[in-house]
Amino acid sequence: MNILISGATSGIGQQLAKDYAAQGHRVYACGRNQEKLAELSASADTIETLQFDVTDRAACRTTLGAIDSLDIVILSAGVCEYIDDAKHFDADLVERVFAANFFGMVNCAEALTPNLNKGAKLVFIDSMSRLLPFTRAQAYGASKAATFYFAQSLGVDLKPHGIQVVTVSPGFVKTPMTDANDFAMPMRITVEQASASFRQQLAKGRSTIYFPRRFGFILRLLNKLPTALQLRIAQRMKD
Ligand SMILES: NC(=O)c1ccc[n+]([C@@H]2O[C@H](COP(=O)([O-])OP(=O)(O)OC[C@H]3O[C@@H](n4cnc5c(N)ncnc54)[C@H](OP(=O)(O)O)[C@@H]3O)[C@@H](O)[C@H]2O)c1
Repeated sequence: MNILISGATSGIGQQLAKDYAAQGHRVYACGRNQEKLAELSASADTIETLQFDVTDRAACRTTLGAIDSLDIVILSAGVCEYIDDAKHFDADLVERVFAANFFGMVNCAEALTPNLNKGAKLVFIDSMSRLLPFTRAQAYGASKAATFYFAQSLGVDLKPHGIQVVTVSPGFVKTPMTDANDFAMPMRITVEQASASFRQQLAKGRSTIYFPRRFGFILRLLNKLPTALQLRIAQRMKD
């Protein structure tokens, strides 16, 4: 298969790039970090690298617009910034997070979708944070909720074209992104576990993927509670 992965220079995307290449698939690994891209390219003959910033729409169009015959596109590039002072929050921070997490994925999808053929899978990585109004996660959680909605709605309209849109909502996975967190991360898994679970669920044809699955089950249950109760739970997590 031909597989394109954004955010392939670190964390979940990097592990997926390595694992898919090890299985003999052709991988287009995308990122900004030239050193990490060179390492990836040297690690397997089947990895080709593409360097661009997902927030640069013109660069996405130029770099990705001519790529065809992709079987799987995995949009993983993203950032996490928390809001520490809700009373004086910084709208620039919110815009930065949306630029990478939401518009970054939209930019890549815009450039790639016209060349996707019947049977292709277009995968958006959001987050379980979209399931509950977590403290300090206003920008991050909102960007992931927007990504989830966008992806699901796009899936409705791409289905007649034979393109399956898939959303992936990870819980906590040990990566440089979560290494920066200063709070308890229940049920955190390794990137190897995340990659294995992702690849298994995708191969089964799932359109919505959660890992670790038990944490996903719990958060989806909480998400079904009345809003007032969800807010009480979120408040208690903060206190
Ligand atoms: N780790 C978790 O627990 C967790 C949980 C839920 C959801 N997620 C989501 O899963 C995805 C991967 O997260 P991760 O933990 O693997 O993060 P990570 O280790 O920090 O990696 C982030 C990746 O995104 C790329 N990236 C960021 N901004 C970019 C930009 N403007 N242009 C191009 N590439 C950019 C980085 O590439 P360069 O450094 O080369 O630019 C890097 O490859 C993210 O969307 C994240 O929100 C992660």
